[in-house]
Amino acid sequence: MTPIIRTVAEMRQVARGWKAAGGVVGVVPTMGALHEGHLSLARAAKAECDRVIVTIFVNPKQFNNPDDLLKYPRTEQADAALLATVGVDAIFAPLPEEVYPDGFATAVSVSGVAEPLEGALRPGHFDGVATVVTKLFGMTLADRAYFGQKDWQQLRVVNRLVRDLNLPVWIVGCETVREADGLAMSSRNARLDTASRPVAPALYAAMTAAARYIRAGGDAAQALAQCQAQVLAAGFTSVEYVELRDAASLEPAQGLDRPLRMLAAASVGNVRLIDNIPV
Ligand code: PAF
Repeated sequence: MTPIIRTVAEMRQVARGWKAAGGVVGVVPTMGALHEGHLSLARAAKAECDRVIVTIFVNPKQFNNPDDLLKYPRTEQADAALLATVGVDAIFAPLPEEVYPDGFATAVSVSGVAEPLEGALRPGHFDGVATVVTKLFGMTLADRAYFGQKDWQQLRVVNRLVRDLNLPVWIVGCETVREADGLAMSSRNARLDTASRPVAPALYAAMTAAARYIRAGGDAAQALAQCQAQVLAAGFTSVEYVELRDAASLEPAQGLDRPLRMLAAASVGNVRLIDNIPV
């Protein structure tokens, strides 16, 4: 079985040993409840690094809804079994008091790219993500870190903070892994009930159709409105946003001459899903 490390002191000691031997250390930050999407990140890290750490930490600072934090699935044994199939070198699974000891008083806050979309709807969320990711880099001494493009805005936030704080970590953004019907893999999918699960792929299907229409020269505003209508008609309970943004800055898209990203958040049953695709 993969060793599970609980303390920062031990994590750093192990990572220092690997680095002293000339090893490149890769980290895959996760909150557990692992699925094929996470495993694909771990495999990418294995292919490019000498040593791979997967962190499992349900970060209380990035939940703006206490109920969401309570309900977040915690499946450490199953996660460890899955990671053993990939052959990672260590799981770093600290307790909350190890990450945020008494007196902890620092926050990393990214402006610009962290402000719209999820940033506007989930106040404090990206401060929590930026703070814990910065800490996890410091705790694991990682040279490379692997994130899924499924959380596109998070990936942009992490890129920004690494550049702004001169952190010596190379960020790798890996393709979203999807179920056969197009639904983006997410730990939240486990909460979809039997009525909601067949409806959920409609989000990706409608986004794909809208992106195709825009690329073919169709009006973007019309495509986004149509996408929203299709998602609701399919059985989603609400759509929070479907937007076309500059892929790097996440500012509203101006013309089609730069890489663009369509990003959406919508709820089916009581499960909130996000997705994004290039346009
Ligand atoms: O994407 C996630 O699972 C989390 O936001 C992360 C990056 C592990 C930070 O807690």
